[in-house]
Amino acid sequence: MRSGDILILGLESSCDETAAAVVADGHRLLSNVVASQVEIHRRFGGVVPEVASRQHLRALNPVIELALEKAGLGWGDLTAVAVTRGPGLLGSLLMGLMAAKTLAFALGKPLIAVHHIRAHIYANFLTHPRIRFPFVALVVSGGHTDLIYATGHSQFRLVGSTRDDAAGEAFDKVARFLGLEYPGGPSIERKAREGNPAAFPLPRLRSSEDLSTSFSGLKTAVIYRWRQAQARGEKVRVEDVAASFQNTVVSVLEEKAFAAVRAFRVPTLLLAGGVTANGYLRERFLARAREENIQLFLPPPELCTDNAAMVAAAAYYQFLRGDFASLGVSAEANLPLD
Ligand code: KG4
Ligand code: ZN
Repeated sequence: MRSGDILILGLESSCDETAAAVVADGHRLLSNVVASQVEIHRRFGGVVPEVASRQHLRALNPVIELALEKAGLGWGDLTAVAVTRGPGLLGSLLMGLMAAKTLAFALGKPLIAVHHIRAHIYANFLTHPRIRFPFVALVVSGGHTDLIYATGHSQFRLVGSTRDDAAGEAFDKVARFLGLEYPGGPSIERKAREGNPAAFPLPRLRSSEDLSTSFSGLKTAVIYRWRQAQARGEKVRVEDVAASFQNTVVSVLEEKAFAAVRAFRVPTLLLAGGVTANGYLRERFLARAREENIQLFLPPPELCTDNAAMVAAAAYYQFLRGDFASLGVSAEANLPLD
């Protein structure tokens, strides 16, 4: 740490990860602590909101203290406290927000309220602080499948999203149908490695002309095709279903993301969100970006899923422009991006 560094403590509790991190100057990761609730929710097959908020309450203090300890800092060293304000599960958001407000008030430091989807995008700035605008970002998580056109740090415009299920949600639902464990994304990815997509062909879904996506029809197609095969007495391998489903989702995302890059004539594409931890998706996008001569940024897999380092990174740019929150700021389950 050097004197003059801007040291931001970030907190994240929008869903089922309780996370705290300290980031210096928007990109130097001093600590990044994530307490996952996956084991707790697994037996329910998905996140139970009430259970999640109670668990955040238990985990927040130790997670924050560990983040500070790992960064080798004392409370007084912090420049500001940042927290996810929304979108997310209201009860979960409130826990992080209350902790951040309390800290900001007690320490007399500014409070920075961060949008969760923006935070996902800024995970890219942790490893590449010099990314240039304009760019298109594709954020694919459990709750969102968003295409964003960004022309500056405070100029983000949502240009496409899902009309029904988010891509991560589709992974989770199909995994549950296949009897795979929660969270579904990593389970499907593991199975798909041993599968042959051609052995379980899925209909090519009619794609809309615009930049919106739709995944609920695909989920229905998997279920329908599976039942049809069983009725005919055909043997279906879960591995093949997983590979075919994953392949189709990635094709849709790839088609839409590169269509957005063309539509806005930008040289740069950023990926973010839990689904972009998927190795197959990463390979496909890297190959396509090379083919089309597009500069592609994607965070390391551990920074794709929910974490607080990305919150602190996004907050840094808000700090620079004096975008602070009052202690009266509320959590917003459906906080809009623009
Ligand atoms: O960004 P994230 O951690 O939380 C939200 O903001 O929603 O994303 C979680 C989503 C879940 O739906 C999970 O199944 C999916 O990301 N996911 C993956 C992978 N890892 C996590 N999907 C596909 N492949 C993966 N390897
Ligand atoms: Zn997220």
